[in-house]
Amino acid sequence: AWASVQAAPADKILGLTVLYNNDTNPSKINLGVGAYRDNDGKPWILPSVKAAEQVLAQTETNKEYVPIVGSPKFNELIKKMLYSHDEAGKKLLEDGRVLTAQGISGTGSLRVLGEFVRTFYPKSKKVLVPNPTWANHVAILEKAGLTTGKYSYYDYKTNALDEAGLLNDLASAEPGTVVLLHACCHNPTGVDPELEQWDKILDVVSQKQLLPILDMAYQGFRSGSPIDDLAILFKFNKAVVDGKISNFLLSQSFAKNMGLYGERVGSLSLITAGPEETARVKSQLEKVIRPLYSSPPSHGSKLVEIILSDDAIYQQWLKDVRVMSDRLVEMRKLLHDKLKNTYKNPLNWDHLLNQKGMFCYTGLKEDQVKRLIEKSVYLTSDGRISIAGIYPANVDNLAKAIHEVTTN
Ligand code: LMR
Repeated sequence: AWASVQAAPADKILGLTVLYNNDTNPSKINLGVGAYRDNDGKPWILPSVKAAEQVLAQTETNKEYVPIVGSPKFNELIKKMLYSHDEAGKKLLEDGRVLTAQGISGTGSLRVLGEFVRTFYPKSKKVLVPNPTWANHVAILEKAGLTTGKYSYYDYKTNALDEAGLLNDLASAEPGTVVLLHACCHNPTGVDPELEQWDKILDVVSQKQLLPILDMAYQGFRSGSPIDDLAILFKFNKAVVDGKISNFLLSQSFAKNMGLYGERVGSLSLITAGPEETARVKSQLEKVIRPLYSSPPSHGSKLVEIILSDDAIYQQWLKDVRVMSDRLVEMRKLLHDKLKNTYKNPLNWDHLLNQKGMFCYTGLKEDQVKRLIEKSVYLTSDGRISIAGIYPANVDNLAKAIHEVTTN
């Protein structure tokens, strides 16, 4: 039956993990997938997650299905985590205007939002994504039946935000177009708009009545605090309350900031006109989710519930996020120091220090990436490196390899 099936290319990000695992070189370095590693290069289960697992082992009474849109307790805690730290968010909650559903991490949440937009948003079936964006974004949205286009985002000459290009492209969009924005720690570039640039983005979104989808996969990795990283969300909440924009959608993931990669836990939120609309939209979300995966998995979401509701474990989580984000900053400095001071690399590596979050968009060209992979240093073909894969014992080898491919 499958004789005519052609082999598909490997996944641009996860395919690298397969190559890395098959490599027998003991000095191999994996800077492909964005997954946190500790200072010994090992995966890290957060102490807060370990603590929550102990509580869960003692208290869990069933493994029943959770409702189609997820555990009510989980959804209430997510709403509190996201919308109770600013006046506008509180107002949206009080007015019954926030609908939150448990999702299957960022990917699953975004897919559900995409399906919902395609089915129920009459103004447009087109989503603009930043150029560049996460390798999976276009596929998620197109498989949901939407078409995609790009807006300018990154200035390859300055390694910074192409503010003029971005604003111009959004201003040229058809009114009502959907626009995907990375809430913080843009993947793959590590370049985020500054707060005043977000104001300008919101002005254009308002003028053209664009429908924003905020994708928040790295909450906490920009500032070190998951709450401080909500600053962008606060602006969107205020814009809705002030009537400047009518709506926005949000997908959110605990893969990175709780290290719950394989648990597949996250959420999606929509703003509605009020409680009656919330109930209607919820009923249709259920119709979207049920044939896709019936209801979300519950082990990871139960851990999140414990972390967000037990004060001591919550405080531990805030510390854990700080540990991860501080280590990434340290590794940026260390690699920068090695490249500039040990190897005297002639290129400007300031963007290593300036970019935020788990990734650095190095500017390495595809042929240089190929040569690095030949040296057992794995990174995506666009030159993105996951800073999380750097640790004190491999940074020298890494800097040496980068120096060699950029100077010879
Ligand atoms: C990444 O960009 O490396 C992560 O978001 C993991 C993934 O699923 O691609």
